[in-house]
Amino acid sequence: MSAPKPSQTVSRSGRFSKGPAEEVLKFSESVSFDWRLWRHDIIGSMAHARMLKSIGVLTAAELQEILEGLGKIGEEIEDGNFEWKTELEDVHMNIEAELTKRVPAGAKLHTARSRNDQVALDMRMWMREEIVDVMAELHTLQLAMVQLGDRNKETLIPGYTHLQRAQPVYFAHHLLAYVEMLDRDKGRFRDTFERVNVCPLGSGALAGSTLKLNRKMVAEELGFVNLEDEPVISRNSMDAVSDRDYIVEFCSAAALTAVHLSRLSEDLILWSSSEFDFIRISDEYTTGSSLMPQKKNPDMAELTRGKSGRVIGNLMSLLTLIKGLPMTYNRDLQEDKERLFDTADTLRACLRIMAGMIGHITVRHENCLDAASDPVLLATDLADWLVEQGVAFREAHHLVGAVVGVSESLNRPLDKLRASDLKKIDKRLTKQALEVFNIKRAMERRQMTGSPGVKEVRKQIKFWKNELKD
Ligand code: ARG
Repeated sequence: MSAPKPSQTVSRSGRFSKGPAEEVLKFSESVSFDWRLWRHDIIGSMAHARMLKSIGVLTAAELQEILEGLGKIGEEIEDGNFEWKTELEDVHMNIEAELTKRVPAGAKLHTARSRNDQVALDMRMWMREEIVDVMAELHTLQLAMVQLGDRNKETLIPGYTHLQRAQPVYFAHHLLAYVEMLDRDKGRFRDTFERVNVCPLGSGALAGSTLKLNRKMVAEELGFVNLEDEPVISRNSMDAVSDRDYIVEFCSAAALTAVHLSRLSEDLILWSSSEFDFIRISDEYTTGSSLMPQKKNPDMAELTRGKSGRVIGNLMSLLTLIKGLPMTYNRDLQEDKERLFDTADTLRACLRIMAGMIGHITVRHENCLDAASDPVLLATDLADWLVEQGVAFREAHHLVGAVVGVSESLNRPLDKLRASDLKKIDKRLTKQALEVFNIKRAMERRQMTGSPGVKEVRKQIKFWKNELKD
């Protein structure tokens, strides 16, 4: 049998008498985006080759040829000197065909392997690195948030519900809420890693191989090991080639992270508006208007908010992609890559820009305090005070409502009400009640774990500084 002609791709040789139509090549190729798996494809192939040698499929000399050939191809790709060919469809066939062209033993490399288990392997290896990087970027953002809080630990702002001023909180407490969210995100990526870190190689196209492969050897060499250093290999060949759960998990963790970043963006956008004027984002992280000379816009936060839509969309695409697929591998699955790559790239770009921007924010301490000092934000403290005097909370709530009503009708702030105004509402409302409106004292009294009190927030800042230190 003659060697495959260029028009007959590796996967078509023998069975086909004609090459694929031009538009078929264009429609089905994936090398334009899966080329980025090249490093993992080569490392995976090297491990597979070593294993083939260990079971006698390759001689030592053949293995050497293959390893050198793959190493050389890797260098060329790295240096941008490798020519990717659309007619070879994907990264796997590009590398294998080039290797085989250079060294005859290359023709043995695909023994007991299919692109179906190969692509699953490459993706899993690629994702392990991405997960580590995403987690590091989450860490950096958390640290930037903690440092911003630490630099402004005296700053009070109103906490909001329904976007209405509710109760005073430390600015740092608000930031630490996001640090908590990001920490859960980190946990979700960590969990995902465990299910990504399973070696599918040896599953073949769907039904393994009649050859006696040493799957554990490959797994070990490629770092697919558990905490006890034992190799972790897939238990079911059909599942291994058709499973994309781990990609969905990654994209789901990413979508939730993107949602958190979107909410953070929204807060930053509000805070930097003239209406709030709580923060200033420095010039490096803002943009101007092409028409209005006075404008300084928080575009980085807006883009981060906007890009969360893409990340959420990618998750939906993947779920939809998978839901109707019969077992096992179907070419539909090639569509997973762009969604995954875009998710990882977008999320990581958002994490980095956010961390940079957070480091370039100055807090308008006076404006924050002004907004937080409205005594009406301490109305609940007055109800708590009444509870301490033995009044049932429901009644206390009602009485304080009346106090707020009187304050409004007299146009007199709560803390400036006269003892006689209070007494008219209820005799239990003595002059001492007004002491609750001392904001400093009010913040000192919030002592429970999780509350935005002075000591507690400092404790939390300290906790996170320690937790996040390298
Ligand atoms: N490029 C393919 C993908 O990403 C690789 C697997 C191809 N397998 C096949 N049987 N055509 O899914």
